[in-house]
Amino acid sequence: MAQGLLGLMRSRLSTSRTHLVLLCGVTGQHSPASWWAERGFSSTLQDVPGEPSSEDQVTVHFINRDGERLTTTAKEGQSLLEVVVNHNLAIDGFGACEGTLACSTCHLIFDKDTFQKLDAISDEELDMLDLAYGLTDTSRLGCQVCVKKSMDGVTVRVPMDVSDMRKQLEVGKQSKQ
Ligand code: FES
Repeated sequence: MAQGLLGLMRSRLSTSRTHLVLLCGVTGQHSPASWWAERGFSSTLQDVPGEPSSEDQVTVHFINRDGERLTTTAKEGQSLLEVVVNHNLAIDGFGACEGTLACSTCHLIFDKDTFQKLDAISDEELDMLDLAYGLTDTSRLGCQVCVKKSMDGVTVRVPMDVSDMRKQLEVGKQSKQ
């Protein structure tokens, strides 16, 4: 069982780079590590080169797991995962797989109107969403949702509980040993 899931994850990892590139308009081939490093994830996460000018900015509010509201600005075309990382928002455990569609820790809940205007969901995202805790009819994965101008002022909710599929697989492997 665990082997089957690992195989599934490997195939996701090999295809998800393409998703990242296609979904949010990033050009060129990037490994998740280089993509992350380019955005300063392992550095101090201060200003990121190419930050939007004020007219390109979209305001996004996140309601954190503890109910705290985190407000930030984003640039059209960024994924919501990039927004969280680039602004160093303190959302516990968010984006653990760095956008490779392998963890579901970037689960976000939208209001119905916004949800209906989002880009189509892929089968791979649906499969990973199925593993998320607290799934709702308006759930999406933040690494797969791109910011649009029409989302200015949007509020998205971070579920109270988080599930990292990779940790569940680790536990499954250890219990078999
Ligand atoms: Fe892991 Fe989105 S960051 S699935």
